[in-house]
Parts: sequence; C-alpha cells; structure tokens
Amino acid sequence: TRVAVLISGTGTNLQALMEQVKKPSSSAEIVVVISNRPAVMGLKRAALAGIQTRVVDHKLYGSRAEFDGTIDKVLEEFGVELVCLAGFMRILTGPFVRKWSGKMLNIHPSLLPSFKGVNAQKQALQAGVRVTGCTVHFVAEEVDAGAIVVQEAVPILVTDTEDSLSERIREAEHRAFPAALELVASGAVKLRDDGRMVWSHNV
Ligand code: GRF
Repeated sequence: TRVAVLISGTGTNLQALMEQVKKPSSSAEIVVVISNRPAVMGLKRAALAGIQTRVVDHKLYGSRAEFDGTIDKVLEEFGVELVCLAGFMRILTGPFVRKWSGKMLNIHPSLLPSFKGVNAQKQALQAGVRVTGCTVHFVAEEVDAGAIVVQEAVPILVTDTEDSLSERIREAEHRAFPAALELVASGAVKLRDDGRMVWSHNV
C-alpha cells in the first residue's frame, strides 16, 4: 500500500512509521512525506531515509480549501492509497476528509473520546486521571472523533509533568501508529460505510 505521511514538526511518529515499513513483513511503503511547514526536522528525517518530500506551506494559501486541494494534488501525483497524519497540526476540510474517508489515519495523545483537542496530555494531568494514552483513528469530519483502530494505555505518575507524561505517551505512539498502519495497509481492518471499523476476515 502506497502511503503518504503528513507532518508539521519533529517527526518522531514519522520515524517510527519509516522503521516499520522497512520490515519485510510490512504491507506498506512510504512514497512521500508532506509538511505544511518548511525546514522542520521531520523533512530531514525523510530525506535521510531517501523518501521524497514536499512542503505545502499553509501560509501561502488564501483558504483551507485551496491548501487541501494542493495536498490532494500531491497525493494523487504519488498514487497514494493511505494517508497518515503524524503530528500534522492542520484541520482538514470536509470535502478532503470525505474523499479520503477510510484511507486516512491520525494519532492523538489521549484515550479518545477523552481529552479531544489541543494539549490532551495537559488535560489528562489536570483532570487527575491515573491512566491516559494514545489513539490511532480514522479521520472523520468531526475532529478527533473517527473510528478507533489502535489504543495504548499509559500510566500517569504522581511525579509527572506535562513534559514527562508527553514523552511517555510518545513512546506509546511509536508502537501504536505502526501497528495501526499495518492493520489498515494489509486490509485486516476497514472502515464501513456507517463509519464503524470492521475486521475483514475471510468469510
Ligand atoms: C505527538 O505528540 C502526537 O500525539 C501529536 O503531535 C505530536 C507529533 O510529534 N499529534 P512528532 O512530530 O511525531 O514527533
């Protein structure tokens, strides 16, 4: 399966995905990495791995629709079949999300549906929960609300700060996202038309 990874920054999730697809057992190949911001670390990681990169700088577009349209053109240019949002910090428009429904995954640093939105790690700390985690889900039009593919739980320690907790969650992300990528890229799981995730075993 031809995969695009969309990033906005450091790219540690991208790094985990690149290591995953190098395995002989992988059903996926990353054919392009797209960043909405120039010169971020994630682009260097991709270049070092010999993966083609593109920058689509959202500041250069008058509307979200035009920005999304340019992203879509790049995805078509590379014959992409599956999109992974790995620390991609832009909200995508309805038409784009609908076109890629069932073919676009996002990672969020909490156990959805708890703690949607930004600063999910901080929300968990402030809520006083003892367990949080990360979620890989299909992207739906409602933000952080699509069908869940993989989750991993992470304990919150009494000594935790936002940074120490975020680091522990990120380590879980680096296991959860590659696992979810393989499930979807191999066809083991699909998104049903009613928005629910189904395991497509051979009937
Ligand atoms: C991660 O914390 C992820 O949960 C959030 O953005 C961050 C991505 O980090 N979506 P990186 O760019 O993959 O290192």
